[in-house]
Amino acid sequence: MTLTFDEQPSDLYSSPYLVDYYDLVAPNSRSVDDASFYWDVYQKLLALRSPTPEDPFVIMDVGTGTGRVLHGLESNAINSECEFVNTELIGVDNAQHMLDKAEIITTGILKDVVSWVHGSALNLTEIMDPRKHQKVDLLIFSIGSISHLSERGQPEKFLDQASKVLRPGTGRAYVSIYDGSLLNPNKKIAFHQPQGVSEIRSVVFPSIVYRESDHRGELKGNVKFVKFELEVVNSENQSVLETNHISMKMRQWMEDELILLSSKTDASFVESIRGAHETFYVFKLVTETESQ
Ligand SMILES: C[S@@+](CC[C@H](N)C(=O)[O-])C[C@H]1O[C@@H](n2cnc3c(N)ncnc32)[C@H](O)[C@@H]1O
Repeated sequence: MTLTFDEQPSDLYSSPYLVDYYDLVAPNSRSVDDASFYWDVYQKLLALRSPTPEDPFVIMDVGTGTGRVLHGLESNAINSECEFVNTELIGVDNAQHMLDKAEIITTGILKDVVSWVHGSALNLTEIMDPRKHQKVDLLIFSIGSISHLSERGQPEKFLDQASKVLRPGTGRAYVSIYDGSLLNPNKKIAFHQPQGVSEIRSVVFPSIVYRESDHRGELKGNVKFVKFELEVVNSENQSVLETNHISMKMRQWMEDELILLSSKTDASFVESIRGAHETFYVFKLVTETESQ
């Protein structure tokens, strides 16, 4: 793949090099094993109904990125010697470069049952309406990615959209809030930035090195602004192929705030479950009796 010189303000997902860098530094199946948790949830929900080819079990992974969680479910399926019988998987993301990589690296049993769909967490009905099977049995928003919904009202909009696509009765949405995104007024927020300049070598693009510098973090209200510079460098001749001014806004949370926000939506809070680095909040579609 040949990429041209470019200079742009961006998030971490908006060029093939950035996607590669994200996969190098982001949590992976060795550092976070949430897929085993979601696999157990899938088995539990499967037991509640018998999906058929006409009415399959639908798993939707919102903010799927390069498909880490769905690939993790695939590994669990292989380990349990279980195919994805009568199951359809949908990986949704609003960054096409992430989906492009997800598609390229999907080669195993997942390939025949997954679709990688460009779309927004804020408009899930637009994704499901044209599909043959429109109800979602298990919706996942993993690893604190809901923090990307940093504008006022967006988490509520997502919960409303999630409830619209969930299968009434048995459908469940599992939304993760990462421990590192909790607001704690008594503690100074740490941004875990490397000091000075650091370099990471690409394993996908030969001779490419990612040079990361000038990390800045600032908390304004409940939004953390994370900024740093990321150069894509050809290590053979030191030419800079891309200069990215990374700028991300990540919502921070009060403990259990999502439960409070959900009370203004059609999503009904079911339970919260503690994970190793996160809390999973479980929602279902609010029933008529609950809404009265
Ligand atoms: C932290 S990454 C998580 C990727 C993957 N789910 C994982 O667990 O490794 C967050 C992902 O959410 C996507 N994203 C951010 N805002 C989104 C939105 N409004 N709708 C859909 N995807 C979104 C980003 O493009 C990115 O791929």
